[in-house]
Amino acid sequence: MALSVAVTGPTGDIGISAIEALEDHPDVGRIVGMARRPFDPAERGWTKTTYRQGDILDRDAVDALVADADVVVHLAFIIMGSRDESARINLAGTRNVFEATVAAKRPRRLVYTSSVAAYGYHSDNPVPITEDVPPRGSSEHYYSEQKAACEAALAEITSGSSLEVFVLRPCIVVGPKAPALADAMPWNQLPGPVRRVTQALPLLKPPFPDPGTPLQLVHHDDVAAAIAIAATTNAPPGAYNIAGDGVLSMSDVADALGARPVRVPRMAAVATSEVMARLPFVPSALEWLHAGRTSVVMDTSKARQQLGWTPRYTAAEALSSLAATIH
Ligand SMILES: NC(=O)c1ccc[n+]([C@@H]2O[C@H](COP(=O)([O-])OP(=O)(O)OC[C@H]3O[C@@H](n4cnc5c(N)ncnc54)[C@H](OP(=O)(O)O)[C@@H]3O)[C@@H](O)[C@H]2O)c1
Repeated sequence: MALSVAVTGPTGDIGISAIEALEDHPDVGRIVGMARRPFDPAERGWTKTTYRQGDILDRDAVDALVADADVVVHLAFIIMGSRDESARINLAGTRNVFEATVAAKRPRRLVYTSSVAAYGYHSDNPVPITEDVPPRGSSEHYYSEQKAACEAALAEITSGSSLEVFVLRPCIVVGPKAPALADAMPWNQLPGPVRRVTQALPLLKPPFPDPGTPLQLVHHDDVAAAIAIAATTNAPPGAYNIAGDGVLSMSDVADALGARPVRVPRMAAVATSEVMARLPFVPSALEWLHAGRTSVVMDTSKARQQLGWTPRYTAAEALSSLAATIH
């Protein structure tokens, strides 16, 4: 049977690749996407997809989006933003999507992209971490706190319903169509000629601290493949860690994205994070520093064995594919 799939956030870094994977899937007959910006699916050559402008904070718009869907894929989220604005959209908007999906008669499956950040940056996290560990979040990082809160809301709202709930927990997503990691490096915002001069002269490259925390990356096409599998599979619902093979260092990321890696003691990252956690006001962007203090390397065996998901790109290959777009 041809599935009808509703997608929030189809215009984002993951959304574009997710729609492409759903367009290519033989079991998917129709896709309806919703986000706030104007967008024309025909310009991308998509034939199964229609698009409507709408805000997940508008419950009527969300009700209308999910009413005719067999599967709801929830991607809409504010990743980089202020603590207050992101909380408003991510908590209230996500609750709208979950509640509307439970209330609607037709949807039988909900796919939600959570994040590795939902686990939180706790020193007692096992390495690698499996889906058996509850997503506790870290209150000092707004994104981690909100991702854990959304998973808790999901469990509460869908409890007792017959919905099949798939929660995907990707690590940082990169690739030519997911440039957010490169964009977050300020030197990549320099005009092309200036950037090329700094790249040619190593001493001009901006220093980038590496406290030795290992890092996982995943290519956007591999996350998209996981979403398409979750939307269509007979595999058991539940949470699935999603990451490319291999771990990288912050130095690998710095080298690839045009910085000069500088090794710093792990204790420096931990101490900085602990001091920041006690400060009364920290700009939301700086809260991302907490993510560097603890390894949250995920075990992806469950996604491989139960979902049948196999990433095509290693972490290193995913990083190279991003680096190729900025040099
Ligand atoms: N990128 C990563 O590294 C990564 C890693 C792990 C998990 N994730 C998760 O994967 C999901 C998708 O991430 P992404 O990288 O694709 O994010 P993104 O590039 O920032 O895209 C966010 C999407 O959400 C939409 N959106 C934001 N606010 C909205 C609102 N109020 N109403 C409707 N749509 C709204 C945006 O479109 P408009 O702005 O046009 O509304 C856009 O389509 C998020 O839940 C994110 O937390 C991402």
